[in-house]
Amino acid sequence: MKFQGSQNYVATQDLMLAVNAAITLQRPLLVKGEPGTGKTMLAEEVAQALDMPLLQWHIKSTTKAQQGLYEYDAVSRLRDSQLAEHDSAERVKDIRNYIVKGVLWQAFTADRPVALLIDEIDKADIEFPNDLLRELDRMEFYCYETRELIRAKHRPLVFITSNNEKELPDAFLRRCFFHYIKFPDAETMQRIVDVHFPKLKKELLAAAMKTFYDVRNLPGLKKKPSTSELLDWLKLLMAEDIPLEALQSADSKVSVPPLVGALLKNEQDTTLFEKLVFMNQRNR
Ligand SMILES: Nc1ncnc2c1ncn2[C@@H]1O[C@H](COP(=O)(O)OP(=O)(O)O)[C@@H](O)[C@H]1O
Ligand SMILES: [Mg+2]
Repeated sequence: MKFQGSQNYVATQDLMLAVNAAITLQRPLLVKGEPGTGKTMLAEEVAQALDMPLLQWHIKSTTKAQQGLYEYDAVSRLRDSQLAEHDSAERVKDIRNYIVKGVLWQAFTADRPVALLIDEIDKADIEFPNDLLRELDRMEFYCYETRELIRAKHRPLVFITSNNEKELPDAFLRRCFFHYIKFPDAETMQRIVDVHFPKLKKELLAAAMKTFYDVRNLPGLKKKPSTSELLDWLKLLMAEDIPLEALQSADSKVSVPPLVGALLKNEQDTTLFEKLVFMNQRNR
């Protein structure tokens, strides 16, 4: 099993190495990086490339570790017990009918190896990663209601992503293979754009990329635009048929690039950017 990147996804050498290292070590791959740098997509692409079904678990601030294992639906059971029908009376007898299997349960009991994505783990509360330590390490857990041990038939390939909003506990980190997706350099970014917009004109791309990196390198930005923002912006530029000249700052005029709302997502950043453009104009 070796991941080599894919048609839709540009993987740098070090990223491929990391994926393969996690596969070899049989440890979860923890992927960090700015939002929009392809962390979620990585899991989807690796799963597809290795022909594994992908189970996804998107974490929210309210997500509990237990939900990934299973939940006992006591309310349904109570309701069924109050119905007079024969069917429901039968159902009620077996508690197993009220165990809602979480993604880990599904991954552990699947007939073939699957990929499992635990997306944006840093959204959950601080205890969440610790609560999953044993399950991810030993690949088993106990269901008290049915008194059975759920053990992985095949070790799933686990991807965990984080946007770095919270630090993860050391004990958790110890068990993962770690990779930080660095923000793509211009050359890699070019390849990514090519994957999405193969027909984009070279000159337009070059001008747009220059503007993009200029915006990104503005000192003091609150939220730097990332890959997905660049892609959105390019899509708009093409849809609106923005001429090349609108992007190139000809000597006489420096202006705010069109549709900058695709790149800058808050008013402080837009104001900062406009001020800078204004100052540049005056200095000419
Ligand atoms: N290496 C890449 N190759 C191709 N497309 C990419 C790459 N990185 C990011 N993208 C694009 O950016 C979008 C956002 O990626 P996503 O995986 O959702 O980011 P994240 O999960 O890191 O926030 C993807 O839908 C894809 O279109
Ligand atoms: Mg994501």
